[in-house]
Amino acid sequence: MTETMPDSAVIREAVRLACRAPSLHNSQPWHWVAEGPALHLFADLTRVMTAADPEGREIYLSCGAALDHLTVAMAASGWHANVHRFPDADNPLHVATVDFHSSAMATTEDVGARASAIGRRRTDRRPFMPPADWPEFETYLRQTVIPYQVMFDVVLDHARPSLANASRLTEAIREYDPSYTAELGWWTSPSDTGDGIPRSALTSAVVAGHVDVGRTFPASKAGNGGEHVDFDRSRIVVLSTHHEDARLDVLRCGEALSSVLLECTAAGLATCTLTHMTELAQSREIVRELTGQRGTPQLLIRIGRAPVADEEPAATPRKPLSEVFEVRPSPGRGAST
Ligand SMILES: Cc1cc2nc3c(=O)[nH]c(=O)nc-3n(C[C@H](O)[C@H](O)[C@H](O)COP(=O)(O)O)c2cc1C
Repeated sequence: MTETMPDSAVIREAVRLACRAPSLHNSQPWHWVAEGPALHLFADLTRVMTAADPEGREIYLSCGAALDHLTVAMAASGWHANVHRFPDADNPLHVATVDFHSSAMATTEDVGARASAIGRRRTDRRPFMPPADWPEFETYLRQTVIPYQVMFDVVLDHARPSLANASRLTEAIREYDPSYTAELGWWTSPSDTGDGIPRSALTSAVVAGHVDVGRTFPASKAGNGGEHVDFDRSRIVVLSTHHEDARLDVLRCGEALSSVLLECTAAGLATCTLTHMTELAQSREIVRELTGQRGTPQLLIRIGRAPVADEEPAATPRKPLSEVFEVRPSPGRGAST
């Protein structure tokens, strides 16, 4: 091993942490290949939700989140990641090639806090209490996303009813879409394959009814708290891209999502990513109008204090690493798993 090539165990652990990233319906649409000094990230198109996300835009949001998780995990181990996004103009599935150089500067206090947040972060679908010290934290989050070149907006209180309308509109349209309903049912059915959303990560119908902007999921029978918070008082951040749905911009938006989620988790705040309102043109237009921007809204994030701070939702499972990560022999060498 040279100084430009981390130990295979370091890469392996960083990929494992990267795979803790959020993804649409926990579809984990990524495949990692370590080859020589480089690590490659590929999008897995077999995981596209053809009803919810026919263009596969959310595949790139999810891959972006995983890519950012990876760079954080590597930085926490003392490795700076050089990321080349879409290195092969002829292959849109080749999302990134990453190589590394060791750097004491990589492991800052902030990076350490984000890395340790990876294992604690959960998508929490319960109603939230308002975050404490929001104005200062909002300013901090705005600064956090500057490197990702996304637009960051916060839904104003008086615009919240319009956002709730956008959410209801989406769900009303989809109620009569059998493909969407079947797809959602499939991804939320109990499975032992390590993908999809387990019922334990969903809320009861009563609790879901206290969140006016949530995606409608099949109700979980077991309550997981939140009954006493009668309506959601979260702050809602919208991340938008400058150039509509350009692949690179969407990927970077997924990276920014990771960054916001990890910062919130590190600060003790609960989060829930929302994309149902950006999947349909009608509701997406409402969100765009609410942000007052010319950008293209990609996703929303509810941020707040969990209703019961010490009762986090359980971690959702992930596919075994062996299914999403492979080590290929570098030219002229044998494989080194
Ligand atoms: C692109 C994207 C879209 C998502 N959309 C939603 C959504 O609309 N509603 C929701 O409750 N969760 C949404 N999630 C969260 C996923 O369901 C969640 O990340 C996944 O089930 C894994 O669970 P975890 O985040 O707790 O690890 C989304 C996540 C991503 C990355």
